[in-house]
Amino acid sequence: MLRVVVMVSGGGTNLQAIIDGVASGTITNTVLAGVISNNKMVKSLERAKQAGIPAVSVSPGEYRDRESFNSALLEAVDAFSPDLVVLAGFLVKIPDQMVHKYAGRIINIHPSLIPSFCGVGFYGLKVHESALKRGVKITGATVHFVTEGMDEGPIISQKPVPVEEGDTPEALQKRVMEQAEWILLPKAIDDIANGRISLRGK
Ligand code: GRF
Repeated sequence: MLRVVVMVSGGGTNLQAIIDGVASGTITNTVLAGVISNNKMVKSLERAKQAGIPAVSVSPGEYRDRESFNSALLEAVDAFSPDLVVLAGFLVKIPDQMVHKYAGRIINIHPSLIPSFCGVGFYGLKVHESALKRGVKITGATVHFVTEGMDEGPIISQKPVPVEEGDTPEALQKRVMEQAEWILLPKAIDDIANGRISLRGK
């Protein structure tokens, strides 16, 4: 049984897709051991509570410096003894110490077809604003393993999503979530939980 911890920062729709996937059996051999948020005032924590999943928040503002926060974040992750850490809209950079400790066992969902519109500064609506500004006709989402760099790890899966005439960033974000993110992330977890995907050499 794969023990999964999901790390969130916002609305938690990807978390909800994972919760629903486990409940419906589309994600098998998996237990959601915990949810960690960097912000105690988010809907994600409500979703965890509704699903009966232990949830904690570790906020940078509660620590005197980044190093103290990083240690507290790693402690919070360790406490759940995860086999897999899933970043589902987690907006804080994962400390290198945690990337090394959980090498090959952290995955992230990014709302574009990496290597487009990714890296520092590309998160949330900004990703879709950039895609619309560039005028791309196809965008999508990517699930990848997390390494020290931002959005640079080995790609696990991608799914294309059409950009439509008159799209606003919000409309495009919703389509990418519905048609790509909420499908790719549960599938990646199920593939990892059942040994169909792993990071070679880890
Ligand atoms: C999603 O668009 C995800 O791709 C990005 O942040 C957003 C999180 O949304 N990393 P939610 O909190 O899962 O609703």
